[in-house]
Amino acid sequence: MHSDQSSSTDHFSLTDKIVLVTGANRGIGLGFVHTLLEQGAKKIYATIRNDDYREALQNLASDRVVPINVDLLNASTITQLAEQIDELDILINNAGIATASLCTQAHSLELTRHEMEVNCYGAMRVTQALLPVLCQSDSPVVINIASMAAISHFPNLGPYSIAKAALHSYTQGLRIELKAAAKNGGPVNVVGVYPGPIDTRLSAGADMEKPQPAEVAQTCFAAIAKGEQAIFPDPFSQAMWQQFLEHPQQLEAVFSSML
Ligand SMILES: NC(=O)c1ccc[n+]([C@@H]2O[C@H](COP(=O)([O-])OP(=O)(O)OC[C@H]3O[C@@H](n4cnc5c(N)ncnc54)[C@H](OP(=O)(O)O)[C@@H]3O)[C@@H](O)[C@H]2O)c1
Repeated sequence: MHSDQSSSTDHFSLTDKIVLVTGANRGIGLGFVHTLLEQGAKKIYATIRNDDYREALQNLASDRVVPINVDLLNASTITQLAEQIDELDILINNAGIATASLCTQAHSLELTRHEMEVNCYGAMRVTQALLPVLCQSDSPVVINIASMAAISHFPNLGPYSIAKAALHSYTQGLRIELKAAAKNGGPVNVVGVYPGPIDTRLSAGADMEKPQPAEVAQTCFAAIAKGEQAIFPDPFSQAMWQQFLEHPQQLEAVFSSML
């Protein structure tokens, strides 16, 4: 794992923390929910789009998991979300989509707009709605799940790469602007996560060895405890980040050879 910036997060612990995870019914989001439960979080607001997942999430720990309906494409559901939350320590902007497509193909503009709405504006809307309550925490954390495609454009995921690069930039902006926003006048710890292929529905088409979602969550929390704010949580992203540091254009060439 590597970090381009770091902050001291002495005594980072999930015990008794109140956390919100978007897109919590499957994949990496569900991996975060399991890990948060294992590591002692007090309450987990778990966003879903479909009520079919409500019971299964509640059954994980009915006193600690609170499913809430949120569709990132529907701003009023985000307003309603914020109205239900009066305490929050950690916000995990995880929900996302990835449509296979090129930047140059027909309808790429419309596809990019859609990817931006979910993968970038969705995270921005949720963050803006929850920032006032988050800043009441003694040690607030925002974790944005971007992608290695945010660092270097990924073949056949053109609109997705554009949207994730925008999310990466938003993550940097938040970090810069929230230097003294916490209740105690300290910084909001803003963390970007840049995974490679992980074993979820989203990467079903990638035929390669892929870590499990809960491993990503465990790696992220361990990295945050070490003060990392740019987290590459799997062997693929770690190798690609090294390559990027050595020679950014070479990584572009490596990715384009995968097309
Ligand atoms: N898996 C990978 O290889 C990989 C690599 C890099 C980054 N990531 C990122 O990791 C995050 C999680 O992805 P995943 O791999 O866990 O994918 P996933 O299994 O497809 O899960 C995506 C989650 O996002 C939710 N979601 C999608 N659109 C939404 C919307 N409009 N409003 C609210 N929720 C919405 C989905 O809800 P439904 O179940 O209702 O569809 C689902 O809970 C994404 O941001 C993704 O870009 C994944």
